[in-house]
Amino acid sequence: MLTLNKTAGVFKPSKRKVYEFLRSFNFHPGTLFLHKIVLGIETSCDDTAAAVVDETGNVLGEAIHSQTEVHLKTGGIIPPVAQQLHRENIQRIVQEALSASSISPSDLSAIATTIKPGLALSLGVGLSFSLQLVGQLKKPFIPIHHMEAHALTIRLTNKVEFPFLVLLISGGHCLLALVQGVSDFLLLGKSLDIAPGDMLDKVARRLSLIKHPECSTMSGGKAIEHLAKQGNRFHFDITPPLQRAKNCDFSFTGLQHLINKIIIQKEKEEGIEQGQILSSAADIAATVQHTTACHIVKRTHRAILFCKQRDLLPQNNAVLVASGGVASNFYIRRALEILTNATQCTLMCPPPRLCTDNGIMIA
Ligand code: KG4
Ligand code: ZN
Repeated sequence: MLTLNKTAGVFKPSKRKVYEFLRSFNFHPGTLFLHKIVLGIETSCDDTAAAVVDETGNVLGEAIHSQTEVHLKTGGIIPPVAQQLHRENIQRIVQEALSASSISPSDLSAIATTIKPGLALSLGVGLSFSLQLVGQLKKPFIPIHHMEAHALTIRLTNKVEFPFLVLLISGGHCLLALVQGVSDFLLLGKSLDIAPGDMLDKVARRLSLIKHPECSTMSGGKAIEHLAKQGNRFHFDITPPLQRAKNCDFSFTGLQHLINKIIIQKEKEEGIEQGQILSSAADIAATVQHTTACHIVKRTHRAILFCKQRDLLPQNNAVLVASGGVASNFYIRRALEILTNATQCTLMCPPPRLCTDNGIMIA
């Protein structure tokens, strides 16, 4: 855009002449210089993220600051701590995303920011920073629903037509929805209590995985996935939650309590105190990961059948999109793949770095 303005300034040609000039270099207006460019800002939870994306989905620049390490040390997210860390980092992260994109702030077409759902204190930092920037640069503001952004991210990397089914599983969210268009969602099921990532984080904390040499910097869910590879998922016999519920809802609190009981019993058997690593930690990780996968797959299966019975999804090649931090788990992805193969559906997952919170999905 800057280049175009400069050229126009020197020769003062008509708009048509400029377009002809650009086309002679294979620069098609609307595909390169004339793209709308959006700055996306995300601060809904514990990641301060920003990205500059053009209207065809090219990521021109991005930056992220994760607070995971701090929250691991305090044993969970403390909202005022998250707020303070967002405040300390937002300016730098936005600047880094803009610098990486080589786009001058005045060339942005709009600024998009997560406004809900999330931690109020965290959301507030991104929102007030964005509104200040919007006022300064006189740019349009686009309010973004965090879950819609997660649900639509797949359209950056894959060609997906509406309608499709989306499964969003993260630390703060758990839902199944039919996506009929941008901003047109039919909610089919949600967690009745906590989200799967929250449950995995709690189990990882109870197992003190932060003290495990291989997992000390990983989020709870990632630590469970890592350790589960060395464990036996059948060592403990656990029935997935809501076996008889005839809907698409989820529940993870009961599973968390069952795992807690197993940990207490194992600590007694192994004669160790809470806070030390159990020798059976890998088996427990494998069990909780497997049970979580079974539960998620069963609820998703119900949603697929419901949609197909009512012709809300095509009978063949219906698409299931799985996103959110927990969807970056390869064991859970594999379980979902078995389900989609058996129901003539196609599973699509954004790459792991786009599954967790990021600025790209907001932009
Ligand atoms: O989407 P996200 O970055 O933030 C929220 O909106 O919550 O998801 C973070 C959650 C955390 O609970 C983390 O433990 C979980 O996703 N997570 C995983 C994995 N990586 C992150 N859970 C299971 N397996 C993983 N590999
Ligand atoms: Zn999220």
